[in-house]
Amino acid sequence: MEKLSRHQHYDSGTSEAMLLFSPTMFLAAVCLFMASAVSSETVTACVDFNNPYYLECESGVINVKSVFYGRANTVICSEGRPPHQLSNTECSQPGTVNFLKDRCNGRKACEISLNDIIHPDPCQGIYKYLQTNFTCVPAVHVIVCEHSYAHLTCDKGEAIFVLGANYGRQVTTICHASRPPGQVQNVYCSNPTQIVARRCNWQKNCTIFANNLVFGDPCFGTFKYLELSYVCLNPLSG
Ligand SMILES: *[C@@H]1O[C@H](CO)[C@@H](O)[C@H](O)[C@H]1NC(C)=O
Ligand SMILES: *[C@@H]1O[C@H](CO)[C@@H](O)[C@H](O)[C@H]1NC(C)=O
Repeated sequence: MEKLSRHQHYDSGTSEAMLLFSPTMFLAAVCLFMASAVSSETVTACVDFNNPYYLECESGVINVKSVFYGRANTVICSEGRPPHQLSNTECSQPGTVNFLKDRCNGRKACEISLNDIIHPDPCQGIYKYLQTNFTCVPAVHVIVCEHSYAHLTCDKGEAIFVLGANYGRQVTTICHASRPPGQVQNVYCSNPTQIVARRCNWQKNCTIFANNLVFGDPCFGTFKYLELSYVCLNPLSG
């Protein structure tokens, strides 16, 4: 997943790290609050069509908490911008949070194309930024290629709870061995599914076949994979 690891680097040695990638175009602020199991992180990026927006968990999987796209102050992503591009500080795009949850929850890393979130424009002419607060939650992360089985299992006394599942393709580098390029090049096949959760939640173990009969075909001609993550919960505690 080379492609997915180049844009942000988390400095886990400090509680707050501000990283400047390109002074005028791109700002990423990463805050790490190391709790015992879950880390909270914030990624802020100025709208920049040359750099994809990228979230990553060093351990565990992404659980998006809140997302802001627009402009709420005159400070963030203001460098080199004329005042009129910063003048509206009550500009936000509703609904962005659901988009990021669909794309990123349950994955170790995800890349968002800004083109997918900028419409409709909530304030024309204003220079906007995208900010996501998410946690990295410990979870079992499973990827199986199309036509294979995913096995989910928990210890005695615990039950499966699915955090997220996607049947499709979002990178070229997974399940690509001995596949013609034409079957692995479409990485815009994001297809979040509730089917795994419906079948497996609260079971002790669960097997699910990754194929079109179970999930439908979100992208004909593309060789797909099922990516999911789950936790094992003790139904009696909490
Ligand atoms: C993310 O968290 C920070 C710190 O708690 C907060 O100031 C900011 O408004 C949050 N952003 C979003 C999009 O909720
Ligand atoms: C499912 O659980 C049963 C016993 O409850 C066990 O024998 C079996 O091996 C488990 N299957 C998997 C795939 O873990």
